[in-house]
Amino acid sequence: LKTFEHIVTSTNGRLGMIALNRPKVLNAINRKMVSEILEAMEGFDRDNEIRVIVLSGNGRAFAAGADIDEMMDDSSIDLELLNQFTDWDRLAQIKKPIVGAVQGFALGGGFELALCCDLLFASNDAEFGFPEVNLGVMPGAGGTVRLTKLVGKTKAMEWLFTGKRVSAEEALHYGIINRIVAPELLEEETVKFANTIANQAPLSIRLMKESVLKAIDYSLYEGMQFERKNFSLLFSSNDQREGMNAFKEKRRPNFSGN
Ligand code: CAA
Repeated sequence: LKTFEHIVTSTNGRLGMIALNRPKVLNAINRKMVSEILEAMEGFDRDNEIRVIVLSGNGRAFAAGADIDEMMDDSSIDLELLNQFTDWDRLAQIKKPIVGAVQGFALGGGFELALCCDLLFASNDAEFGFPEVNLGVMPGAGGTVRLTKLVGKTKAMEWLFTGKRVSAEEALHYGIINRIVAPELLEEETVKFANTIANQAPLSIRLMKESVLKAIDYSLYEGMQFERKNFSLLFSSNDQREGMNAFKEKRRPNFSGN
């Protein structure tokens, strides 16, 4: 595995693990970190041994936002020419499921990164929020869009306009996270959950992720057409035959991922 500057990657069985690693600045996300996350994710996405990606922070934070030091002197034209958010567009194209483990702060770009995960576990000390309003700016990596699609206009505007931090309990209530666990169990529980997904038929998971993400953008009709193609596609897979034969033979299926 490649060594990165701002993240640490490893594998754990069928899991590709990515940990953000700038603890002195609460994992503030600079541009290099985003490109490293993307490179690691795309590597795991193409690796046949890996079935699920796990993304985590460390210490007091998942990530406390985009790196303010890095962007504070940028002009609009600098940002336009940097075109940095294309990396975030590519993160949205990762095909394998991404499970996030959030401890401590998930603010601004850190919250946006959490919202790029498909499933989220959080420790009970986790805090989510968009404090950009306090800096005279706004989210730029999908925050206003993903939050609104997830919780609706009313709460999205309240949280964006006040910059307030939302507790793990509230995040669970609004469907932002899947589960709350004790801080000392966060890693263990996230890995256990990621492994249950890693043991499912990989192509089913892959095409369902794609269909669910399309459902967010598409009309009911378009979404159903898209779903139908993916449903049909699975009937070319070995795992469809294995899964249905195993059912008839009253045994557990052994999925190969093809
Ligand atoms: N960028 C750069 N450095 C950051 C940072 C950030 N987003 N967040 C924290 N840090 C640094 C602090 O400057 C501090 O560094 P020094 O020790 O060198 O002073 C270190 O991390 C520890 O932070 P604090 O001393 O502030 O810790 P705290 O416990 O008092 O407060 C906090 C924690 C409430 C999270 C506070 O650090 C904070 O408000 N951070 C900024 C949060 C923020 O505004 N995020 C949004 C950024 S904009 C964005 O993300 C735009 C986008 O959509 C792409």
